[in-house]
Amino acid sequence: MRYDHATDEKQRIRKLVATRFADPDKLDIARRDNVHLSFAAGPHRCIGEVLAKVEGRIAFETILRRMPKLTLADRNPKWRPAMSLRGL
Ligand code: HEM
Repeated sequence: MRYDHATDEKQRIRKLVATRFADPDKLDIARRDNVHLSFAAGPHRCIGEVLAKVEGRIAFETILRRMPKLTLADRNPKWRPAMSLRGL
């Protein structure tokens, strides 16, 4: 059988993501044990992780500063049923 590194790596990451948190479907922005896997793991881990985190922090801080009355439209947001790219 042919060894497919890319497929094998993706399956390994999927398994890691599925088992990373005890409650993976709960939106908990205050999680303390928060070494997450959004930037993948292993040899192809995202090299732009630090830049993306800095940009994200600046963006969210700016939004909250400029729109202090911003609230959730739905208090119980639903996850999209996507396998590779999770989101609300
Ligand atoms: C929120 C923003 C970002 C997310 C969620 C993200 C996520 C990821 C993920 C999951 C991978 C692994 C893909 C795979 O294994 O097939 C990856 C790889 C990569 N990312 Fe990002 N990324 C982000 C931003 C960035 C930025 C800002 C840069 C560059 C400025 C960047 C550059 C790269 C590169 C070059 C790779 C390939 C690494 C390799 O294959 O060795 N990413 N990213």
